[in-house]
Amino acid sequence: MSAATTTTITEQLSNPERETVKIVNDAPIDEQIEELIRNNNQINITRTRHKKIALQPGIDKSGLAILPESTRKRLEDDDIDIAKGYPEVPERNKIPIFVDQAHAIRDYDVPFVDRGKGADPEKKALFGAAKEVINLTKNVGTEIVGLQLEDLTNQQKDELALLIAERVVVFFRDQKLSPTAQHKLGDYYGNIEVHAQTPQVPGLPGTTVIWNDYQVSQGMALNFSNSNLGNWDSTKYLSVGNQGWHTDLVHERQPTGYTHLHLDAIPEVGGDTIWSSGYGAYDKLSDEFKKFLDGKEAVYVSAHQYLDRDDPFGGPKRIERVHPLVRTHPATGWKFLYVNRGMTKRILGVSPVESDLILNYLFDVYEKNADLQVRFKWTNTKQGYGTSAIWDNRVSQHRNVWDHEGAEPRHGTRVTSLAEKPFFDPESKSQRESLGLYLHQWE
Ligand code: SIN
Repeated sequence: MSAATTTTITEQLSNPERETVKIVNDAPIDEQIEELIRNNNQINITRTRHKKIALQPGIDKSGLAILPESTRKRLEDDDIDIAKGYPEVPERNKIPIFVDQAHAIRDYDVPFVDRGKGADPEKKALFGAAKEVINLTKNVGTEIVGLQLEDLTNQQKDELALLIAERVVVFFRDQKLSPTAQHKLGDYYGNIEVHAQTPQVPGLPGTTVIWNDYQVSQGMALNFSNSNLGNWDSTKYLSVGNQGWHTDLVHERQPTGYTHLHLDAIPEVGGDTIWSSGYGAYDKLSDEFKKFLDGKEAVYVSAHQYLDRDDPFGGPKRIERVHPLVRTHPATGWKFLYVNRGMTKRILGVSPVESDLILNYLFDVYEKNADLQVRFKWTNTKQGYGTSAIWDNRVSQHRNVWDHEGAEPRHGTRVTSLAEKPFFDPESKSQRESLGLYLHQWE
């Protein structure tokens, strides 16, 4: 491509309003743009809603300067090669430029069997081996004491899957768990999601690095004033980082199921994570409203953005996918609400105004009922060990609390196992209905 063409396209990209620029190359415009972006290191290829972050593709040497000591040790003990840097962002030629390229990733059926389906409902193998099993709240969150995740038998892993599906999130403190072992466990639970853009552990695709300190070092403007806008419309106000309520990767054809975050660097105080239950959110609704929602579908969008091949100067767009708004869990058989504020765009079959009204109410129900939530403090009791949370992304939303404001390092690795193609079974029951718990009948 000639220098003149490069300049004109660069101008066009940075000024979508401009109509007078002439493209002088004969190649189709989308091909020219792709070539330009792939060959120009100055263009930020990773597009999140947080436009200020410019993660450079490849392995980043600068990350080593702020790598927490406990993380370094965990990586080195696992023979992860960090000599060239840390973390690793997928190479420039592997990152999708256009929405259709991103949409095509995993756009096919992958067989999935939920490991929790058919597991012993009493979970004798798992509970029998644990020192303690502590329910942290009545409805959500259980901590298991005295077991190492790496040592679990398949039977225990299946029972754990069912426990996670029932309790939404399960915690294990004081874990000696390498990134490789974490990856292996995720592989047992489903097809591991390998993200097209996010930082990963070098050489271990699918082991996503959760490290706000790094994103901040690369320009993410995360601060006290914008870090906890979780109850605001994050699509409009762009709350920063993972502070807003969300469910991971809802735009996937087969979205996320069991998801495992292991923190190996934890602030003394602060940096908690909160989860909320989609079973509970559904059960807060009246019977009439449940009937209205059952069987409805909605459009779900990705967090990351790409260019529209047919409208490349129209600004970045997100991947879209249609799923049921109320889903049935394959292992528990319970119905749950499947929405989140940042990534559920609209309900099909109703007007945009109705959709906005209904969705905003559903977001509020999901985000604001404290009896559907658990807030977890990530402490370890042993030096050199980490803490794990494994949650079911189908039946929950979560958010981080950045109250430590980066004053102490916080670093983790996350492995996300993709689950079934979402379905709604009209014969399925809600959690409370199934457990015979009180449900109010409105007159
Ligand atoms: C996430 O949003 O997946 C990570 C949550 C956390 O860092 O606490």
